[in-house]
Amino acid sequence: MSSTLFLQSDVRDPFSLYETMLDKNPIYWDEINKIWAIYSYEYCVEFLKNTNAFIPIVNENNEQKLNKYALTILTNLTRLSNGIQHEISREIALLLFSNMKSIAVETILSQLIEKDSIENKIDWVNSVCKKLPILILLKSFEFSDNDSEFISDKIEIISKIMLPNKTEEQIKSINEISEYLYFIIENHLSIQSLYEDSLIKISRSHKLLPDEIKTKFVSNLIGLFIQSYDAGRGILSNSLLQIIKHKSFADKTQIQKSILETLRFDPPIHNTRRITNADIILGNTLIKKGDSVLVVLAAANRDSEKFDNASIFNSNRTNNNDNLTFGIGGHQCLAKYFSIQIATEALWYLFENFKNSTLLENNIQYESLINARLPKEIRISI
Ligand code: HEM
Repeated sequence: MSSTLFLQSDVRDPFSLYETMLDKNPIYWDEINKIWAIYSYEYCVEFLKNTNAFIPIVNENNEQKLNKYALTILTNLTRLSNGIQHEISREIALLLFSNMKSIAVETILSQLIEKDSIENKIDWVNSVCKKLPILILLKSFEFSDNDSEFISDKIEIISKIMLPNKTEEQIKSINEISEYLYFIIENHLSIQSLYEDSLIKISRSHKLLPDEIKTKFVSNLIGLFIQSYDAGRGILSNSLLQIIKHKSFADKTQIQKSILETLRFDPPIHNTRRITNADIILGNTLIKKGDSVLVVLAAANRDSEKFDNASIFNSNRTNNNDNLTFGIGGHQCLAKYFSIQIATEALWYLFENFKNSTLLENNIQYESLINARLPKEIRISI
């Protein structure tokens, strides 16, 4: 039996493994890694909706020796918190998110393409996917050019704060930039009316000091930037690959439908993890309190009980939007429709303006990550 945990860079076709597991072991105990893996759509949904499926703690007792600022950011992120702390952080993240100004994607995208293309060739991943989502967020929150440059330059470093295990080098770099990052975000927020008004309201309703709420605002704005970076990169990359392969770029509607189907068929995020806070029964299986669980979202997306002809790319299937790529339950992504909209606008701009966009390399290499399948580069001619 293959391991449930593997690097996406090492596996050509993870979906054939998922297919086998869906068929033989929809819930599987991996004795080597001491982790449950859930593959079926039904059980993934049931499990993620269970309030005793907790997010595992990253950096218990600050074993990673993060400095004061990095630790504050990590501790307050909605993505990594549970219970009441999660409720408060999510409320703040949603408030921030819903107050973003609307931005024209094509203005930023055209500049990125113009800046980096050489002889009508460009690396879509490094020149566009790693930059566009974060730049859109920064502009939507009206950050100055200087601050935007600092944040987008350092986003790769700070995004490593989410890793359960970090190298010494990663910790050193995170610690080096955290204080200044925290400072510019705090300064920027302090001049927003949204911030002052909601600070008092939220601190009263949750009986917390305004300073405690302040740290949650700063941390979760950084959290939005972090989340936009890896996953945002992935939706733009994987969708481009599928759209070129299926030549489905005739109009904006076809592009949007292809993006939705890419999210099901070739999602950038393959799995997420939980630890159980109480015994949980799924079907006939008892998952004991304290057990670790890998929820294989990408396998659930290929479950034939849920999706007809699941291994075939079909942008006209009526329930493609039921994919689990943005998670489900209390921690479901709050940027689902925003991400799909950015990707639609970006890819429509590309195919409208560069009708002959084609891949220059078919042999795509993936990052050495367990949870996400992210192309390292996609060289295209435009
Ligand atoms: C601008 C882009 C994005 C932003 C700002 C964003 C933000 C967030 C935030 C704040 C959360 C945590 C919610 C919580 O814990 O309460 C989250 C969760 C999640 N996001 Fe996103 N996201 C973005 C793009 C994406 C994309 C493109 C994908 C996948 C294609 C994605 C997949 C997920 C998943 C799977 C979760 C849930 C993780 C879990 O339940 O363990 N996100 N997102």
